[in-house]
Amino acid sequence: MKAHGLPYPRLLTEAHEMDLDWVFRSVRAEYWARSRSRADMQRAMDNSRNFGIVLDLPEGPRQVAYARVITDGLVLVYLFDLVVDPDFRGRGYGRWLLERILEAPDLRRVNTWMLATRDAQGLYTRYGFKTLVEEEPLMVRLQQRPDWEMPAKPPGNTGSSNP
Ligand SMILES: CC(C)(COP(=O)(O)OP(=O)(O)OC[C@H]1O[C@@H](n2cnc3c(N)ncnc32)[C@H](O)[C@@H]1OP(=O)(O)O)[C@@H](O)C(=O)NCCC(=O)NCCS
Repeated sequence: MKAHGLPYPRLLTEAHEMDLDWVFRSVRAEYWARSRSRADMQRAMDNSRNFGIVLDLPEGPRQVAYARVITDGLVLVYLFDLVVDPDFRGRGYGRWLLERILEAPDLRRVNTWMLATRDAQGLYTRYGFKTLVEEEPLMVRLQQRPDWEMPAKPPGNTGSSNP
């Protein structure tokens, strides 16, 4: 963390703990959510796992980061709306929040992660995300579950088969 002089981040994992005005304002300020209504954002949050960072500043607690994921808890996680307050960017909070999400106990073993970004690929590549198609925003991170093995093909079966 490069947050010299700033408090260590406190992780939020429930939407009801969050500063919803800040979340809505901050996400909507980004290029992908300019036309998003508050009702749409609220519905998306209701259907997502929500993560945030609060800093306990001398003047009081302040939310400075947010992200959400949808997942089936087994095969796929899709990450959306990662945003850090412009006043607190470049201090490691974005990476810190991403690491907490990737390591969340019920998400860490999910093998396929996806997200889309227009220009923040550098943030994600260090965590194993790869651009699927050059010039396209979609990024994917694949990891093998330790307990997952491709079933052996029965002898003599050379054809392809879908699971
Ligand atoms: C992208 C964002 C979440 C990063 O958060 P942050 O707290 O400023 O970033 P951090 O200090 O944790 O550092 C991020 C790292 O990713 C790198 N990076 C690559 N592309 C980046 C980009 N477009 N913006 C910010 N950082 C980027 C930084 O250089 C930094 O690398 P370093 O640790 O080697 O210095 C934040 O800048 C933000 O909210 N941007 C606007 C919204 C956005 O673009 N979100 C991502 C969309 S998927």
